Amino acid sequence: MQSLLQRRVIFVGGKGGVGKTSTAAALAVLAARRGKRVLVISTDPAHSLGDAVDRPIGDRITGITAGIWGLEIDPDQQARNHIRAVSEHMKQLAAPEMHAELDRQMALAAHSPGAAEAALLERVARLLLEEADNYDLLIFDTAPTGHTLRLLSLPEAMAAWTDGLLNHNQRSEQLGKVLKHLTPQGSRAEVPTPFDDPETDPFAGMESRTRKIAETLLERRRLFHRARRLMTDPAHTAFVFVLTPERMPIVETERAVKALRQFSIPILGAVINRVLPEDADGDFLARRREQESRYLAQIGTTLKGLDCVRLPMLEADIGGLDQLEELADHLAAAGLGKD
Ligand SMILES: Nc1ncnc2c1ncn2[C@@H]1O[C@H](COP(=O)(O)OP(=O)(O)O)[C@@H](O)[C@H]1O
Ligand SMILES: [Mg+2]
Repeated sequence: MQSLLQRRVIFVGGKGGVGKTSTAAALAVLAARRGKRVLVISTDPAHSLGDAVDRPIGDRITGITAGIWGLEIDPDQQARNHIRAVSEHMKQLAAPEMHAELDRQMALAAHSPGAAEAALLERVARLLLEEADNYDLLIFDTAPTGHTLRLLSLPEAMAAWTDGLLNHNQRSEQLGKVLKHLTPQGSRAEVPTPFDDPETDPFAGMESRTRKIAETLLERRRLFHRARRLMTDPAHTAFVFVLTPERMPIVETERAVKALRQFSIPILGAVINRVLPEDADGDFLARRREQESRYLAQIGTTLKGLDCVRLPMLEADIGGLDQLEELADHLAAAGLGKD
């Protein structure tokens, strides 16, 4: 994992409570020590980034300490904003007598399954593209594994969802044609469309209303394609799992590693967190350590091929920058950020 901090984007994932937020924040501390400007973005609705750094953060980019900024995305707020933006856009295009119906449809859409995730994904995609120039490193502190995997599988679902939304309200033959062109034929392949050729105007001959919608859809498609390209580029992005030496986190990590490989997400390694410190003594801890050593051996087999570093269990839980500095020391001792 030596080269981890050379990436521009790090996703930190794992089961709930294993130490994702603590690890994400400690990685930020280490990167900031190396002179980097780091933005830590929490996408877990159960935010704890603010608690880890002992500062209120919330849904806007907030300075934490020299070189580190934080952001806690609120997915529900995100969904509402998203729906409002789409709604306002569509009202400009729709006849006034349609507006009440539009509002009703949009209110329904905001509560439809996946709406918050779709909106969250769009935000992540925009951050990946738009904040890349403002920071040296973006660290995503993600939601527990299952949720993150759904998110990563969403680009296609997301497109279908938006298309459905717009299509529902603006049924037109022309739009139908546009959507057909835009929809990749393969599942995840980036299929070239007539729009890829800058010499042709794909919207030629279209009424202006349809044209505007088509342009919005195209912009969104491009956003997801570009974000996906960055996320699957191993020189740019790395996914790091956090797990504790216990049965459930091992099982869940093993499953998640398999799934992420299917999505071509580059996995660099794993952080084994809360390993009992060597100098901890007592009979109880001796028995725990015995169990732990079995699980550590199991992790060695299960995650073979993945680079693993260990973080010790600290005396107290993590509630501020001092302890994050301590975790960062351990990460540095494990060789991270050497280069
Ligand atoms: N190495 C560690 N030593 C002691 N406490 C830890 C350590 N790592 C995490 N914790 C504590 O465990 C709890 C869960 O950690 P957190 O980073 O919030 O996990 P996640 O983001 O995966 O849910 C928090 O109370 C945190 O302070
Ligand atoms: Mg967390």
